[in-house]
Amino acid sequence: MALMIGIPRETATGEKRVATVPEVVEKLIKLGFKVAVESGAGDAANCSDDAYRAAGAEIIVGAAKLWAASDIVFKVSVPTKEEVGMLREGGHLIGFIWPAQNPELMQQLAAKKATVLAIDCLPRMLSRAQKMDALTSQAGVAGYRAVIEAANAFGRFFNGQITAAGKVPPAKVFIAGAGVAGLAAIGTAAGLGAIVRANDTRAEVADQVKSLGGEFVKVEYEEEGGGGGGYAKVMSEGFQQAQREMYAKQAKEVDIIITTALIPGKPAPRLITAEMVKSMKPGSVIVDMAAERGGNCELTEPGQAVVKHGVTIVGYTDLNSRLAKQSSTLYGTNLFRLTEELCKTKDGIINVNMEDDAIRGLTVIKDGAITWPAPAPKLPVAATKPAAAKPAPAPAHGHGGGGAPASAGKTAAIFGVAALMFLFVGAYAPAAFLGHFTVFVLACFVGYMVVWNVTPALHTPLMSVTNAISSIIAIGALVQIAPPLNLLEGFDRPDGWIRWLAVVGIALTTVNMFGGFAVTRRMLSMFRK
Ligand code: NAI
Repeated sequence: MALMIGIPRETATGEKRVATVPEVVEKLIKLGFKVAVESGAGDAANCSDDAYRAAGAEIIVGAAKLWAASDIVFKVSVPTKEEVGMLREGGHLIGFIWPAQNPELMQQLAAKKATVLAIDCLPRMLSRAQKMDALTSQAGVAGYRAVIEAANAFGRFFNGQITAAGKVPPAKVFIAGAGVAGLAAIGTAAGLGAIVRANDTRAEVADQVKSLGGEFVKVEYEEEGGGGGGYAKVMSEGFQQAQREMYAKQAKEVDIIITTALIPGKPAPRLITAEMVKSMKPGSVIVDMAAERGGNCELTEPGQAVVKHGVTIVGYTDLNSRLAKQSSTLYGTNLFRLTEELCKTKDGIINVNMEDDAIRGLTVIKDGAITWPAPAPKLPVAATKPAAAKPAPAPAHGHGGGGAPASAGKTAAIFGVAALMFLFVGAYAPAAFLGHFTVFVLACFVGYMVVWNVTPALHTPLMSVTNAISSIIAIGALVQIAPPLNLLEGFDRPDGWIRWLAVVGIALTTVNMFGGFAVTRRMLSMFRK
């Protein structure tokens, strides 16, 4: 018989998210489940009872009734003691649990003979698990929101502008820590037009920073910052000293600092000292995303936005709730993907298959027995968390450079086939065709190399300049209206109407030519700082 998935109203203070949204309810029902939502559960995330009802959910008034009716409960925040009390004996619970930090909760849930899947325990290094990775989806939203909070507290534009009243310089943003949240913040700030710089102890993220439009600022000290699994490690005192010097220099130069540095299981590294805050320009902003873990900035007050030494320091710990609909939609989708894995038969019944690496990692309690921590999943050697968690970098210059032997073989095969075709064309095509064809192939090659070696940000000006250059077709029109050259003697003079068409052609091409160059010039001036 189809199981009932229950969505209670979140009770943690300030929590505005909800574990699923109406769009996802429809998908859960298609998987064969029944869905019940506590009345008002989605109110703070702009999901009304009516919207859930329209999607096919049953609305239940009162938490106790909802928990009692549910075979599986989907939650966002860690459940309270009262909530565990309401969970059915032998029921299922899916949500954030953080078993290492909450041993008492684990005991309570075990006493209920529950089966608990902790979304925070997902083995992130499994690429198959990406779709269920709620830590990534939530950190991405939070990184975006951190930039919006910074923009809100900052008194100027992010992008540079040339206005009638004068030139406005772009804001300079420095991001400390280029993990999931940091990369999302880099992309967002760059998208708003700011100059973005970022630093991370893991040098391997430099390319990802660049691909999102940021500049990677290195600490001048040789030390590998990776602590395994794509996470950072605590750095040596020598490195930390060199890093502090670099951060102090950045603090003087930039307008906004967003800190996201985190080492799992450790207090947040102190990166921004009170001295650095003092050295910042008045009106500058710091958003400390690590506020909950003690903060990356010495002067952060968790949960508050405070002004110290003329700098606004934002230490909000509820960035996801400040974008509740988006966070809930992504979280709900992560849980739906997990439900698909649990219910491959699509009949509304789940199978917690402990042979499956992803499910095994997530399952912290099975039928009342604590199964946490899970053994490390079997992995291909090169797999790391960031590969699963971070936005994909821009395509590498020169296609086929994926690095995998399979793709190298594929590239060789494509080149082989192309060479054979070229040989065939060379053997049978007329000489004139071969000449044109060679020019065409070379033109494609040169064009390709030019485009791929230009920074993506400059592609638009590049297009407008190539548009202007394409006005070379004006030569064709000029030939049509010119008196016949010696070369053309013997050919009939073009008719009058062709000459007039050529005149129109030249007029339009002139607009294209001058317009293209003028637009390019304007666009390039936007990049000049
Ligand atoms: P992550 O583990 O993906 O990224 C953290 C990054 O910091 C890593 O790339 C790591 O190499 C880097 N790092 C560590 N030590 C460093 C140091 N000394 N200097 C420079 N970089 C260093 O973590 P994620 O998911 O991006 O989260 C970032 C932070 O945001 C965490 O503290 C998390 O708790 C917090 N967060 C806060 C929210 C809020 O509402 N305030 C919401 C979601 C996340």
